[in-house]
Amino acid sequence: MPIRPTVWISRRLSDATVARARRDYEVILNEADGLSTADEIVAMSARVDAIVPCHSERFPAAVAARLDPRLKIIANYSVGVDHCDIPALKARGIAVTNTPDVLSDATAETAMLLMIGAARRAVEGDRLVRSGQWKTWSPSFMVGKQVTGARLGIIGMGRVGRAMAHKARGFDMEIHYFNRHRLPPDLEGGAIFHSGIDSLLKVADFLSLHCPATPETAGLMNAARFAQLPCGAVVVNTARGALIDEADLIAALQSGKVAAAGLDCFVTEPGGNPAFAAFDNVFMLPHIGSATAQTRDAMGFRALDNLDAFFSGKTPRDLL
Ligand code: DGY
Repeated sequence: MPIRPTVWISRRLSDATVARARRDYEVILNEADGLSTADEIVAMSARVDAIVPCHSERFPAAVAARLDPRLKIIANYSVGVDHCDIPALKARGIAVTNTPDVLSDATAETAMLLMIGAARRAVEGDRLVRSGQWKTWSPSFMVGKQVTGARLGIIGMGRVGRAMAHKARGFDMEIHYFNRHRLPPDLEGGAIFHSGIDSLLKVADFLSLHCPATPETAGLMNAARFAQLPCGAVVVNTARGALIDEADLIAALQSGKVAAAGLDCFVTEPGGNPAFAAFDNVFMLPHIGSATAQTRDAMGFRALDNLDAFFSGKTPRDLL
């Protein structure tokens, strides 16, 4: 019987994913599910042919340089790959894949949840009822911002951005988008293209970020950009925390330029930014955009599909 490749699964993935991995590979599973240090990742690379990491395991150039030559492929369990220095890994001859497509709907659902929850004051309302402090009602009580029929600006019209646009159309939103390239009409679905971010921001009553975190997009939403939004805009981020200058967002919330925000991603994770806790108009989640049982299985299977292709000598579908 041929020797089966050994795979390190660096976090506790879904039962179905682990079962399939064990069927086809020798698996070292991080049962404890804790975070791994750079030294632990480097040490593990000498014991395995493949790693299936999450975005919580980091492979910057300094780690890539120390990885053992035994390691052949990093099959990410994520669509975002900002935790990997891909040129540095490729230079070491390590293949890198991700899991696009399968989490677009779950992430867009979370963006909708955050958008509506932020606009309709979900944090404040929940706290009021939960704490027994709900003592009154009047027509002027807890008035929020209506989503239906409003203009939604999307930055990054990839798979998740398009899934968001699709769902937002169900709320009769007018969709505007900025993307590096204009989409063909069938993918655009009537959305209005902006060739620059600035013109998009001017019409974004609601703004949802769906672009990857790269050196070019770090701090994309800064004071100058918040200033261009319509007064009282709602900002949603389910992509990566690095896209927003958090101090500038706090200033925009304080001035009222931004009426509310819905955030699933933060510059510091896990943990988030405690300064946001002072704002009832910030609806926060702990990076769970893709966290549905169905999507977790689909992400795991997609990562394993990539491993299967690689170890059978084919080009993995999601090779970066
Ligand atoms: C992704 O796939 O990039 C999500 O953020 C979860 O890691």
